[in-house]
This record gives sequence, C-alpha cells and structure tokens, in this order.
Amino acid sequence: MNSFSASRDRSADLAAEVAARPGDYRVLTGERPTGALHLGHYFGTIRERARLQALGVDLFVILADYQVITDRDTLGQVRESVFGAILDYAAAGIDTDQATIFTHSAVPALNQLMLPFLSLVTEAELHRNPTVKAEHAASGRALSGLMLTYPVHQAADILFCKGNLVPAGKDQLPHVEMTRVIARRFNERYGQVFPEPQVLLTATPEIPGLDGRKMSKSYGNSITLGMSADETAALIKRTPTDSDRHITFDPDTRPGVSALLTTASICLGMDETTIAEQIGDGGGGALKKVATDAVNDFFAAHRARRAELAADPDFAIGVLREGNRRANEIAERTLGEVRAAMGTVYS
Ligand code: TRP
Repeated sequence: MNSFSASRDRSADLAAEVAARPGDYRVLTGERPTGALHLGHYFGTIRERARLQALGVDLFVILADYQVITDRDTLGQVRESVFGAILDYAAAGIDTDQATIFTHSAVPALNQLMLPFLSLVTEAELHRNPTVKAEHAASGRALSGLMLTYPVHQAADILFCKGNLVPAGKDQLPHVEMTRVIARRFNERYGQVFPEPQVLLTATPEIPGLDGRKMSKSYGNSITLGMSADETAALIKRTPTDSDRHITFDPDTRPGVSALLTTASICLGMDETTIAEQIGDGGGGALKKVATDAVNDFFAAHRARRAELAADPDFAIGVLREGNRRANEIAERTLGEVRAAMGTVYS
C-alpha cells in the first residue's frame, strides 16, 4: 500500500470528523526556526492552523529549534526567527492566547521522552526513513546522530502533549508513521499512555520560489510574509523571465514566468492559465505587475497587523513565555505517567 495515497484518502474523511467534533482533537504541528516565514509556509500550513483553531481544536505549535541543527552546524539567528514566526502566526489569525506556542529546547521533560522512545525503534527502521534520507542527501554532510534520530524526537514533540492530529505536508508522513509505531509499542510494553496521531495532509499546491526552484531561504527566492510592499516589488522585479512576450504557464520550460503565475494564482484564487490568458502578449513586465499586486493586496492586512504587533516588544516574548510554561506543565504530567507506566517511580 502506498502510504501517501492512503493518507490523502483518509484526510478527506478526517477533515469532516474534525469539523464535526473539534473538541476531540489536539493538534501538534510546527516548524524549524531557520529564517523568516514565507508564502509557502502561509499557504501550506499557517492558514490551515488558523482554520483548525477557529473550528475549535486545541492548537499546539512547536518551534523546533533543536531540529535546526539536524542539517547545519549552528542555530544562526534563531531568536529572531522564533519571534518573527510568532508575529506571523498572530498576524495570520492564530489566537495566541488560546494556542500553546513553544520552543523545543525549553521543555526538558519533553526531551526526556526521547530515551525510552529510542529503545522502541531499530537502527534499520531509522535508516529506512525516506525524509531523513532526502534531508541527509541534501545536506551534503555526514549523517549525524541527531539527523538519524530526529523522527524519534519528533515523536516526542507530538506525544508529550498527546497530540492526536498533525496537519503537515507529505514529507512529514514517515515521521508521523514512526510516531504511531512508537506510541503503539510503548502502549503494548508498558500500558496505555499515548494516542496514535493521524496526519491531516495539507492540500495546497507547492509554491515554487521565484526562480522555479523550491522556495528556500538559502536561495533568496522567496517572498517573506514580513516584507514590505516595496521589497516584494523589488524581489519580483529581479525574477528572471524570458524574451517571449506571450505569457504561458509551463513550469518545465519557463520556470520564472510560471513561478510568478503560480504566486499570483494562489493569492488571487484563479488558475495560472486564466491569468496567463489575461496577460496575453503583455510580456514579463505586465506579469510582474500582476504578481506584485496580487501578493501585496493579499498580504496588506497581515503585514499591517504584523507591524503593529512587532512594535510591542513584549508581545512575542509574552506569547512564548506562556506557551513554554504550559508546555512544561503538560510535559511534566506526561513524563509522570511514563514513569509510573515504566515503574521508575522511587519515592
Ligand atoms: N520536521 C518539521 C519540519 O522540518 C518540524 C516539526 C518538528 C514538526 N516537530 C514537529 C512538524 C511535529 C509536525 C509535528 O518542518
């Protein structure tokens, strides 16, 4: 069985179940604070989190700072990335009073779950994980112990708060599958403690970077949520298009033109071909204007709200302090259950 198509089929039913009984679900999801959040994050996951929360699910968001060093040496400007993400969550409509937003490294009891969890998986299973293999290959470096085992601490991220719903892209499927295996094996050996979480696949199309490659901070090809309208215009202006004035959507032969069409399409809610037909023989200049206006109109309110929140130095710090406090409380409680189940309670 193909686990991607199975999860995709399951996700439609699951979405309906979540809408019918949102109070039964605790969502745990998150990202690595490696830089400013961009359009791909917004349309891929952030908007979905706000939607789920508005339905009434209990939302946990992890800023997985330890995961930053799975494929690089140091954490870089991690503090700035963490606070920037919180501003974007709030600007995107996530209720930061209700959500628990926390940093991985600030929750010691969560990280303690890693040790018993490691005993539940084999080295062969770890080596088989396709996402770890792909990330390892892309990193161009030796496989570190942290990279090899990161699906296991990701299982701890999800299970410490008994998250039972993980909205994520398909690259995260192997990790959630491993999380389910770990939960099942733990429960079989020690008694029922953990739920087996389900993936809710995020449905948005992949948004290419402005050069047609994958959107990535390191390629400098992404429009970040916090950019000003002028910065957005300048970045789009630099996108390499081509000399054919007739605009068509063809990602293979016209990566720059097509990336701009996809960007406009996602913000306007219209398909790429229709936008291309409307531009007709207008050339790269007209296309860039359409894309720039589409992004700047769509994100005007987000950016205004973000700037307002950024002006209050206590806002993001306060959200994180409260999130870390709650995450620690829950992690301690779960660790207590784990100790009781394993028989390691000595007082
Ligand atoms: N691995 C995810 C990423 O690279 C980030 C992440 C960490 C995550 N812990 C998680 C995602 C738990 C979903 C659930 O983007």
